[in-house]
Amino acid sequence: MPDEVSIIIIDSDKDVRFSLRTLLREVPGTSIRAETDDMRVGVNLVRQHRPNIVLLEVGTPPDEYLSTAAKIIEVFPQTAVFAVSAETEPEIILRAMRSGIQEFLRRPPEHDEMEAALRKVMRRLQAMGTMAGEIITVFSNKGGLGTTMIAANLGVFLSKVCGKSCAVVDLDLQFGDVGMFLNVQPKYTIADVARSYEKLDQTLLRAHLVQHSSGVYVMAEPQQAEEAEGITAEQVGQVLRLLRSMFEYVIVDTAHAFDDISVEALDLSDAVFLVSALELPAIRNSKRCIEIFQRLGYGQDKVKLVLNRFIVDKSVATEKFERSFEYPVFWRIPNDYASVSNSINTGVPLLESAPQSPVTVNLRELAVSLSGFTGERESEEDSTKRRPFARLLRR
Ligand SMILES: Nc1ncnc2c1ncn2[C@@H]1O[C@H](COP(=O)(O)OP(=O)(O)O)[C@@H](O)[C@H]1O
Ligand SMILES: [Mg+2]
Repeated sequence: MPDEVSIIIIDSDKDVRFSLRTLLREVPGTSIRAETDDMRVGVNLVRQHRPNIVLLEVGTPPDEYLSTAAKIIEVFPQTAVFAVSAETEPEIILRAMRSGIQEFLRRPPEHDEMEAALRKVMRRLQAMGTMAGEIITVFSNKGGLGTTMIAANLGVFLSKVCGKSCAVVDLDLQFGDVGMFLNVQPKYTIADVARSYEKLDQTLLRAHLVQHSSGVYVMAEPQQAEEAEGITAEQVGQVLRLLRSMFEYVIVDTAHAFDDISVEALDLSDAVFLVSALELPAIRNSKRCIEIFQRLGYGQDKVKLVLNRFIVDKSVATEKFERSFEYPVFWRIPNDYASVSNSINTGVPLLESAPQSPVTVNLRELAVSLSGFTGERESEEDSTKRRPFARLLRR
């Protein structure tokens, strides 16, 4: 998803502004850029921020409000104006709609109505390509559970099997090894990108990526650990936002810690795959992680528990282990040490080095269900309909 949908609130009543703010906080992907109680100041704020949406009070008599709406719409046709109004007169609603107002919302606002209206704008922006891909961070606060294996291979499947544009980013600045897993020789790494941060744009960023033969692009880890010094969370955030505007999927592999950089990536992510295993230490760690995620405000719609090296065993013990996470299991990846370690050691992704491995079959299925890919060419409209995970995330 998307860059955030930016919003400006223009409403004379501070209680209404407060309830709008509270309500918007509950809709992920929205960000309030400014608010004012004054119509004229409001128009200037729109000029300054060019928001995606203006929430505009429409009071009685409506004339002044509607002419403000008309002015905004005329000068900034890209901005959607939503009336927030206690008016119920059909004639006024009609006039408002005729003046170009997109939605006529109740005042005080109601959550469901507001959310539905915002989703409509988000979908339109997405279709226009001003909002792009989804960021998925594969995370574990404990090393060795398979985050890099999952991130690298997922990138390959999304590109090669599902035909999606995809970049894999290694944010494990000290010990990253995505480049090695995919056996790519990057000319540049994230350290170079961070250095040219001031003038970074899509073209420059693209030049810093290396493409793997499967089609997936890689933003590699610094080659020397010292290079990582000085890379800031702000720079990383900027890189991720830019990547999201260039690719349908951005898969992020992070360090196994809640440092500034990981948290920046986690915050920006549409989904976090928390990788764990059915072993007591891993379970304990993951439970702590889930607590931290809850404190960061991430819900079950964002954080998905992925069990790696899962041994299919329908025993009561397995079920009991799973239950001890006290969290729903989103995906289970089987264990296949020979294939996975051979793939890592040769730098040849599973799709190529072990097409029959149960891990390969499983990760392919994961990529397919994420992207809604069905194996047939689909119309553009269908392809948005068939992104079940995207839908799941945006619900
Ligand atoms: N599904 C799997 N089956 C068997 N071995 C696996 C599987 N996933 C990961 N491994 C092994 O676990 C080790 C750690 O994987 P890696 O992706 O480097 O973990 P992390 O990035 O979380 O530290 C690798 O050596 C790999 O061989
Ligand atoms: Mg790793």
